[in-house]
Amino acid sequence: MGQIHDLTAFENERITTFYQLAELLNNIWDTDELLSKSLELTIQLLNAERGAIILYSDKDQSFEVKVSRGIEQETSQDAIAISRQVLTDVVKSDSPLVIEDTRKDPRFTKSRSVIMYNILSVLCVPLKTKDRLIGTVYLDHRGLPAVFSREDADFLKAFANLIATAIEKSELYVRANEEIFQLKEVLHRTYEYPEIIGKSMKMQEVFNTVEKVASSKTGVLILGENGTGKEVIANLIHNRSPRRDGPFIKVNCAALPETLLESELFGIEQKTATGVGFRKGKFELADSGTIFLDEIGDMSLSVQAKVLRAIEEKEFERVGGQRSIKVDVRVISATNMDLHKKIEEGSFRKDLYFRLNPIVVTIPPLRERKEDIPFLIEYFLRKFSEENSNSVKVTKRIIDALREYSWPGNVRELEHLIESATLLSEDGSFPEKLLPKEARKTKTMISLDRYGKLEEVMSFVEKKKILYSLDKNRWNQSKAAKELGISEPTLRRRIKEYKIKKPKKIQSS
Ligand SMILES: Nc1ncnc2c1ncn2[C@@H]1O[C@H](COP(=O)(O)OP(=O)(O)OP(=O)(O)O)[C@@H](O)[C@H]1O
Ligand SMILES: [Mg+2]
Repeated sequence: MGQIHDLTAFENERITTFYQLAELLNNIWDTDELLSKSLELTIQLLNAERGAIILYSDKDQSFEVKVSRGIEQETSQDAIAISRQVLTDVVKSDSPLVIEDTRKDPRFTKSRSVIMYNILSVLCVPLKTKDRLIGTVYLDHRGLPAVFSREDADFLKAFANLIATAIEKSELYVRANEEIFQLKEVLHRTYEYPEIIGKSMKMQEVFNTVEKVASSKTGVLILGENGTGKEVIANLIHNRSPRRDGPFIKVNCAALPETLLESELFGIEQKTATGVGFRKGKFELADSGTIFLDEIGDMSLSVQAKVLRAIEEKEFERVGGQRSIKVDVRVISATNMDLHKKIEEGSFRKDLYFRLNPIVVTIPPLRERKEDIPFLIEYFLRKFSEENSNSVKVTKRIIDALREYSWPGNVRELEHLIESATLLSEDGSFPEKLLPKEARKTKTMISLDRYGKLEEVMSFVEKKKILYSLDKNRWNQSKAAKELGISEPTLRRRIKEYKIKKPKKIQSS
């Protein structure tokens, strides 16, 4: 402890400066401010006249004066030249550069500013992180030789280590902050459209893609099971695109036989002889807008070839016509089929597939985004209550059951269910009989991790099943026993064992 008192004033000053530097490191997150303040402290302590912290970029081997004091544009070039020299030396010998008098040093005889500005003393040390050289600290003095000693160089080296750590930390900090900023932006960017429900991450991803592709003219292929909302998304892309004021024309490729589909798509040229009238095709009607080719997987190979040409060359002929018709149309297509499989089987053209799908949007089935179910229920309830002037209350128990259901018909199935409920409900409650069978079953589903031993699980299920049978048979024990495949005495024993009680309502009747 007593050692502190034995330190010379010189050493004391250094230690104090070091403390001050450490304090700066702790308190300043702004690197520029940190660097310029610490440079100032060092200049003062080492009696330098001027100084600079020069950073080196590995990538393009360039030097940049990060902060400086008293150094003009002209001399900064020399400071950089000296820094370059130091870094090269450091790689070889790991030593700082201390010049007592530039006039006596052959390395400076050609340096213009050294001569012009009479720079006599120079001290330059490398800035090193654990595994990288990142620059130098440069100090000099004009007019006075031998300002810097070996001890000064040692001090500056230690100082440079602190600075290097600070720079490295701040780089990490800045990078981490940028990342956080980007993540936050993704997190907060929730897309809300009044008519489309999709709060789940998976639907938000779909909306994200929609927003990205809407502005361009590229083809979009929408994939998804029945009723997932492919048409809804096709519409959304059109409505969010610069073509929104143009037409959105839908063609259901599955609904028409081959020849009719062809004239539906490309139109018919008038043939007076046969009496066939002129008709514009959907490609023509969609000019300056979007054509939505729905159920594209059902298109025949010969129509596929014509569609491919229309997309590639942006022109086509009407059926029975010669004249080429030019159109400006964006193509969105959709299917619930596995097009890869169809390509393998030879029933879908690979080249058309690649034309249609620069962008693929896959809409996840409802069972993979159960979070959306309550919101969809609420949305459809509002919609159909208004339409049918009948309101229905959907309890938490019903919502839970509907969440557990697998929804093979996806959003459309849910929409129909809620529509039926608002139509059929008589007392404002949800008609249980409308619940899909599977969803009804889930009501008695047991949580497998709640019951430990197999025996306990079996008893639980047995009790539930006996109760269910008794209930169903209006507590007629012989009917229930028959249904359960056990004798009546056994049933009575179980009732006692499981302490099953007859509900009051039935007891009195
Ligand atoms: N995210 C959603 N929000 C609100 N309504 C939706 C949503 N997704 C689908 N719907 C509704 O569900 C029904 C089915 O949607 P859509 O017709 O777009 O599905 P699809 O994938 O094209 O079905 P299909 O494969 O049978 O052609 C529509 O009435 C639509 O309005
Ligand atoms: Mg559809």
